[in-house]
Amino acid sequence: MSEARSRIELMHGVNLDMLGRRDPAHYGTQTLSELERQVAGFARELGLELRCFQTNSEAEFVEHLHRLAGTADGVLLNPGAWTHYSWAIHDALEIAAVPAVEVHLSSVTKREDWRRVSVIADLCVASVSGQGVEGYREALVRLSKELDG
Ligand code: DQA
Repeated sequence: MSEARSRIELMHGVNLDMLGRRDPAHYGTQTLSELERQVAGFARELGLELRCFQTNSEAEFVEHLHRLAGTADGVLLNPGAWTHYSWAIHDALEIAAVPAVEVHLSSVTKREDWRRVSVIADLCVASVSGQGVEGYREALVRLSKELDG
């Protein structure tokens, strides 16, 4: 019998600890802890185990990705503005070599041009944006299908 792969790492990057103080039109009114609690509930419903991480340091984000192999079966990541230009995070995600889904609270494709670019998209099995916290449920479902398949 194959072992269930259910350990999901939720990684938030720069400025996401400021949820609750950022433009509610794009990011809603929830704080990061509230969002994490809600996403943990979605994960439980899907039989997944969620571990949460946030940092404003790109180096810490990269080092956390380095540690994922062997500790997580999949990763859900919202790197914030780093999404749009951090090739260091791209390369670290490649090293992590676990299924990844990119998620954004806001509609990154309908805002400024620079937000349309994602340097991690080619390493992700799916990208979900513009659905607020509900988008994290969809992202978990997508990741879970990838782990089952
Ligand atoms: C974000 C979108 C990014 O463009 C922005 O820099 C963020 C948050 C989102 O969740 O919508 O910090 O990733």
